Formats: sequence, C-alpha cells, structure tokens
Amino acid sequence: CGIVGYVGGEQATPILLEGLHRLEYRGYDSAGLAVTDGDTLHVTKAAVRVAELRDRVGEGHAATTGIAHTRWATHGEPTDTNAHPHTDAGRRVAVVHNGMIENAGELRTELLAAGVALASDTDTEVLAHLIAGQLEGGAPSLEEAVRRVLTRVDGAYGIAVVDVTRPRELVVAKDGSPIVLGIGDGEMFVASDLAALVRHTQRVIYLDDGELATISAGDYRTSTLGANRTAKTATTVDLTEEDYQLGGFANYMHKEIHEQPEAVRRAVLGRLDERFSTARLGGLHLDARELRSIQSVKVLGCGSAYYAGEIGANLIEEWARIPADAEPASEFRYRNPVIAPDALYIAVSQSGETKDTLAAVQELKRKGGRVIGVVNAPGSAIARECDSGVFLHAGPEVSVASTKAVTNMAVCFAMLGLLLGRVRDLSVSRGGGIVSALDALPQRIGEVLALEDRIAGVAERFSWAVRMFFVGRVWYWPAAREGAQKLKEISYIHAEAYQAAELKHGPLALIDGGMPSVVLVADDELLAKNISTLEQIKARGGPVIAVTSADLPDGLADEVIRLPRSHPELDPIVFTIALQLFAYHLAVGLGKEIDKPRNLAKSVTVE
Ligand code: G6P
Repeated sequence: CGIVGYVGGEQATPILLEGLHRLEYRGYDSAGLAVTDGDTLHVTKAAVRVAELRDRVGEGHAATTGIAHTRWATHGEPTDTNAHPHTDAGRRVAVVHNGMIENAGELRTELLAAGVALASDTDTEVLAHLIAGQLEGGAPSLEEAVRRVLTRVDGAYGIAVVDVTRPRELVVAKDGSPIVLGIGDGEMFVASDLAALVRHTQRVIYLDDGELATISAGDYRTSTLGANRTAKTATTVDLTEEDYQLGGFANYMHKEIHEQPEAVRRAVLGRLDERFSTARLGGLHLDARELRSIQSVKVLGCGSAYYAGEIGANLIEEWARIPADAEPASEFRYRNPVIAPDALYIAVSQSGETKDTLAAVQELKRKGGRVIGVVNAPGSAIARECDSGVFLHAGPEVSVASTKAVTNMAVCFAMLGLLLGRVRDLSVSRGGGIVSALDALPQRIGEVLALEDRIAGVAERFSWAVRMFFVGRVWYWPAAREGAQKLKEISYIHAEAYQAAELKHGPLALIDGGMPSVVLVADDELLAKNISTLEQIKARGGPVIAVTSADLPDGLADEVIRLPRSHPELDPIVFTIALQLFAYHLAVGLGKEIDKPRNLAKSVTVE
C-alpha cells in the first residue's frame, strides 16, 4: 500500500493525487484522500484506481493539509467502505495505514461494547475511532492521542493522521512499515516510499520503528512511543523525478527489461578487480580472515528474490566450494532452523521492506546469526537492519514483476561468490574468466534484448496456451522457476517449473498437445541429457519451445530461441532475460495490464 501526506502553502489535493499516482505500484485495489480546512474533513475514497479518484475529486477543496492512500487489501475486501482514509463517526480524525494491526479484533470488540458504530471491516478504522476518543477525552495534542493509541496496538504500521481542528499539522508514526518525511521549502511531505517524494525534494528523513513525528509546514518534531524526543539527520537521496519516468516505453516492465545492460554496468562499476581476479565489495565489512571463516551460506528472500538467491547459492557453492542454498524467508523463520555461528546468512530483497524477509533477519540477529543484505533500496528496513551488505544499484524498480532487480541480485551474488572463492581455492585464471564475463555481461544482455522481435513472435504463436511447463536442469533450474514466475504474474497462465530429470517422475503425465514446455538447454556437458528430455516431451506430443545456447538437431523443438554463450555459470542470467521477454510479450498479446497484475503488489509489508 502507499501513503502520501502534505502540509504547506499549496492546495494539498493535486499534490496528494500526484503522490498516489507515483505509489500506485504499491497497491491499487482502492484509493482515497482526506484534506482538512479547519472546519470539515473532506474525504473522497473508493475501490477505484488513482486516475478515477482524480476524476471524482475534480478540482478538490482548497485545503493545504491532507493525507492519501492507495491500497492492497489485507483486512477486508477492496470496497469503497474499506478504502482509506478511515474516520471516526464524528469525522474528526482521518487515518491512512499500511501494515496490519494484529489485535484489531480485540480493539473492535471494545469499541462495539462502548457503542461505537464501525463502518468498515478494516483494522485501520479502529485506529481512527480510538484516536478521536483520546482527543475527545482531553489528550493535549494529536501526537499524544496517537501515541496513547499506538501503545495499545500489536502489529505493524506506518500511519498518517489528520485532525479536522488542526489544519496545519499531520502526525505520522511507524513500526514495521516505512514512513519517510520529505523536507521542502516552507512545506513538508510524507510518504511510505521515496517515489512520491523525489518530485518535490531530495532531502528526506527516514523514521525509525517506534517513532512518531508531528509535521507542520516549516517544521517537524520526532519522538518515541515513550515520549522521548529523538534527533534526526536529513539524508540527501540521489533519485530524481526522471528516475521514475517511462521515457517513451509503454509500461515500466518493458522499460526496466531494457534498462538491464545499464543496471548491470552500475552493479559491477568499481567492484571488479582485474589485477587480482576478484571482486571488491566495500559494504561487506568482512576481511579475508572473516571471509575464510564462513563454512556455509544460506540465502533468504521471497518470490523472485528467492529465485535469484537460488542462482546465487549455486554460484557461491561452485566458486567458493562452500555449501550454499536458498530458502523462502518465511519458511525459514517459522521452522526453528539451526543457526550456525560459522554460516553467512544473506537477506535478498529489491524493496528492502518485505516483511517475511525482514522478520527472518530479525530472527537471525536474535539468535546470533551473521547476516548481510543484498538490497536495492538504500534506507530501507532490511538495509538498515543488516549492518553490512551489497547494494544492487539497479535504480528504482516500479513494475510489480521484477526484472532488473533480479538480474542485479544474481550479478551481486556472482561478485560475492567470486570474492569468497578467491580467498579460498578459486584459481587466478578461473577468477579472471569470471571477471571478464561479468564485465561483458551487459553486452550479452544487449544481444538477448536484440532478439525481442523473434521472442515476441514465438510468444504470439503460443498465445493459445492456458498452461505451460518451464524445464531446466542444475544451473538452469532457478532460471526456469523465475521464467514460470514471470509468466504467472503478468499473463495468469498456469506455469510450473520442473527440474528436467524430475519430469519423468510424475509431471510427464500432464504432457499432451495442450501443454507447451519451455525447455532451457545450455551448450554444456549436460547437452545430451537435455536432448533426451526434449525427446521425452516430443514423444508424448508436447509442443516444445527450446531456449538454447546450443545447436540442436532438427525437429526436436517447435520453436528455437537461440541465445549467445558467454560463461557456463553466468549464462542462466542471460537465459532469464529471454524468459522475461517471452512472458512480457505473451501478456501484452493477451491484453493484460502489465505493471499492475491482479492481486499482487510490489512490496509486501505484511505476513
Ligand atoms: C512481492 C513482489 C515480487 C517480489 C517479492 C519480493 O511478492 O510481487 O515481485 O519478488 O515481493 O520482493 P523484494 O522487494 O523483497 O525483492
């Protein structure tokens, strides 16, 4: 979900709507805003997209203070009533909220018992009633009213609150869901994400968990839940509005796919050491002795980040000869895993805000695990929770389906694997080969992007499919998983990935003329095995799309997407790019809404 707030000298409504537009990728079930002029709270909200909200609001009220929200439903379906902001019955207070209040049920019961009528099914509405109750009961300030309520709340939140009688201030608070303040010239902005701020200012303040802020046009004051003042330092971010422009592309996913050569160039910039055939990762803060002490590696992430983690674990194990694997962060935190003191745990996340990944980091730290972050968003919760790590430098990613961030994750893992290998037994010459291949990777990716028309043609020929297999082996297994994930996310075609050899142990029963298989075939020592996989599928009448770096015998595949060869272990990254284009063009052909797939959100800050 996304939060925006404004207090200053300008009309708030257009600023709030523009901010919501920038945050729509965070959730788009419903949207709403509330502004106050000192007499009335003007609230407009509905289960509509931001563009429609804009139409409904029209010119809007002249008020110069307000809050707004774009929602990804958790408590309660996406309906007009459940949309934020929520107010109390007397419409004194309006609240927008990201996260989840775990004891909302209890608090609801208490309010109902006191005769309060609740309008919605949300956990957020409860906050509005409670805060209004505190104000009516004599709380000396809006901040104090919010503080008193938050001390009773279990769960995660980022909130922004207005009180109709205080048209020149906003109160925000955070615990587990981000809130950033943007400092303007005689005006202040609030958002859950930098995307809504950088148009107005580059000077920001990240609130910490358990912190509140009272914001007026020219000032802000931060304090803890325990009412102690806190001192904050503003950070200057190097993002501008331009970083969020579409720049001629039809949607963000297409733009971000095409940004990959540049994104990889940024990821490796200054980090490849040709002289010693290694990588330099300054943010790791681990010297050679510490690097050598690592006996195993576990990567934790969610969704595409988890698949990138699998690619990464393969690279680390192969090059550094350290046992390495990846696991979904949520599984890890709930199964009471053994935390090995000589293991390196790596949390991987584009947004740095994914709740499951953050919680896994916190669990690890609690148990004394050594954890680093591989994160795209500086200033994010995971980046701050991990004292050291590797930034992706992919630039802002807006499309819900992740592309350039996944690629940069794999590249950062490759550099980490190289570094870990070179302080152990990876040879100079093999290290040198990896350095050159990483250096040349942007070019290889460019070559795949140049095949876009061909890949789009193949996608078009398979637009009839309602289900698909993605088949890969060893190095190409995570790439197959990520390919299936991309297709599911944006086309809604049922796509499943299998390890090539596992096909014959069950899934082969599903192969027929209606089940196309995308088979990843590398020109490596497993080529003969992969050819026999293709034969097994063909023999059962299954259509085959071979994505390959090899010269395949004729007649084995219905369509062949031929890819460049660069480096045996880095080629799965190159294959992933082709699968992004395949999913993208299939979804475009089916008329799907690319950047806002149904039911999903870019960053999931709830469990
Ligand atoms: C959400 C997104 C996925 C993403 C996952 C992890 O589910 O829809 O595209 O891979 O979160 O996000 P992160 O920001 O932690 O990489």
